[in-house]
Amino acid sequence: MSGIMAENEAKIKYLYINTIGCQMNVYDSRQIEKKLKASGYQTTDSIEKADLIIVNTCSVRDKAEQKAFSFLGRLINLKRKKPALIIGVGGCVAQQEGARILKRVPFVDLVFGTRAINRLPGLLDKIASKRYRLVDVELTETIDESALVANMENTHQTTAFVTIMRGCDNYCTYCVVPAVRGREISRKPADIFKEVQALVESGVREITLLGQNVNSYGKKESLCTFPELLAMLDKLDRLERIRFTTSHPKDLSESLIYAFRNLSKLCNHIHLPVQSGSDRILKRMNRKYNRQEYIAKIDKLRGICPDIAITSDIIVGFPGETKSDFKETLDLLETVQYDSAFAFKYSDRPNAPATRFGEKVSDQEKTERLQELLILQEQFTRQKNTALVGSNALILVEGLSKKENARSEATALLDVQWTGRTSTHKVVNFQISEDALNRHLNETDLIGRIINVSIEVAFAHSLWGTANEIAPGLSDVKGGKSHAA
Ligand code: SAH
Ligand code: SF4
Ligand code: F3S
Repeated sequence: MSGIMAENEAKIKYLYINTIGCQMNVYDSRQIEKKLKASGYQTTDSIEKADLIIVNTCSVRDKAEQKAFSFLGRLINLKRKKPALIIGVGGCVAQQEGARILKRVPFVDLVFGTRAINRLPGLLDKIASKRYRLVDVELTETIDESALVANMENTHQTTAFVTIMRGCDNYCTYCVVPAVRGREISRKPADIFKEVQALVESGVREITLLGQNVNSYGKKESLCTFPELLAMLDKLDRLERIRFTTSHPKDLSESLIYAFRNLSKLCNHIHLPVQSGSDRILKRMNRKYNRQEYIAKIDKLRGICPDIAITSDIIVGFPGETKSDFKETLDLLETVQYDSAFAFKYSDRPNAPATRFGEKVSDQEKTERLQELLILQEQFTRQKNTALVGSNALILVEGLSKKENARSEATALLDVQWTGRTSTHKVVNFQISEDALNRHLNETDLIGRIINVSIEVAFAHSLWGTANEIAPGLSDVKGGKSHAA
C-alpha cells in the first residue's frame, strides 16, 4: 500500500503560473490549471518546485509585454539546474509573437496562443516525450467548453470571473486585442448558467462576467441579449452579486441601463471607458461615439440609477492629441466626475493601425499629461470616498485584508482587518467591534456573507470602517443594492 502511495506521490507534477494582464487572463489561468489537473499537474506557489512554468502574457501596452520577457529572462538559472523543466508562454504576447519567442528566448519549450488552452495537455505530452519545442497559435473560431465543465471542484473563493465571450470585433485603432484574441464569439447562455451554478455551489457569491464588449453579447450568434443573460443569472439562488466588464459606450443600450434598476443582484457600478474627451481623437481612435453621446449615456444612467458608481479608462498622448484635445479630456473628467479611472500613456502596438499614425506625442509630454490627469481624478475619487464617511454600507466579505495594503492606508488600526467591497466596487477594510466578535465568529463563518459596515475613514483608494453587527441571516439582504454605497 505504502509502495503504491509513494509511486503516486512521485508522479505528482507541479505547475507554476505567472499571470500578467486583465481579468480574462486570470480566468484563462484558472482554465489552464483545471485542464492540466486532469494531466496530473498540481498548482504550486513555489517556482523552485515547478516541473512546468507557464507565463500567461499581456500585450496591451509595451510595458506589459516587457514584463513577460523579463520574467522569462529570470528563469534561465532554474532551467540550467533542472533541464526537464518545461517553460510555456501563453496569452496575448504568445499569440502576437508566435515562433519569434522561441528564437528570442532559447530555453522556452512551448508557445501557445489565446485559443489553444484546450490543446495544452496534448502539446505538453509531445514536449515531454520528444523534447520538441512547439508553437500553437491557431485562432480557432469556436469555444471548447470541456475545460469549463470539468473539474468544477470546491475553490473556496467568494468571487469569481466568468468569461462569457472571447475576442473583439471593434478595432479601436490603438488596440492589439482584436489581433491577439481573435474574432468575437459568445458562449451559449446555458453553458454560462451551468458554470455560474457550479461556482455558486462551490461557495462563490459574486461573479464578474467578462467580455471585451459585453453589450454585443450574443448578437452575432443570435443568442439572447446581454440584459436577458443578466436577468437569467439574477434568479440564481445563493448568488448575491453580479458584475460585468467591459461595456463599450457605443453599444450601451437602454435595456442594460434599466437592468441596473430592475435586477436586484446587479451591482451599482459600471466601467464605461471613454478613452478621450476630444471628438477629433475619438474619431481617430475609431470609438464610434462622440463626447456628447457619451455624456448623454452617463446622464441617462444617473437619471435611472442615481447612486451608480461610474469608472473609466483613459489614454493620454494618442497620436495627434494636442494640448487642447487633452484639455477636453480633463474637462470631461470634471463633467462626469468618475468614481475612479485608470489612465494610460498611449503605447504603439504591433499591427494596431495607430502605430502608423503620424504626430506622435513625446514620452515626456505623455508623462506630464498622465500626471496632471491622475491628480485631477484623485480629487474626485477622494471626494466620492469622503462623502461615504458616516454612512453604512453592505459589504460582501472576501477575507482578511492584505497587511501591506491595510498598513499603507489604514495605519496600525488593528491586527486583524477584514476586507470586502461595496456594491459600487469600493474596497472597504474593516474591523469587527469587540461586542460583535464576542457574539460570533470565525473566519469561515464570515467570508462570503454580506454584512453592514459603518464607514469611518476615507483614503485615496479605499475606505475604513467597523462592523457592529453580524446578525445571522444578514446575508439575506440581496447583493447590498438597497444601500447608497
Ligand atoms: N475592451 C475594453 C478594453 C480592453 S484594454 C474596452 O473596450 O474598454 C484595457 C484598456 O487599455 C483600454 O480601455 C485602454 O484604455 C487601454 N489601452 C488599450 N490599448 C492601449 C494602447 N495601445 N496604449 C495605451 N493604452 C491602451
Ligand atoms: Fe480593444 Fe476597442 Fe476591442 Fe476594447 S473594444 S478590446 S479597446 S478594440
Ligand atoms: Fe492584455 Fe490580452 Fe487582456 S492584451 S489586457 S491580457 S486581452
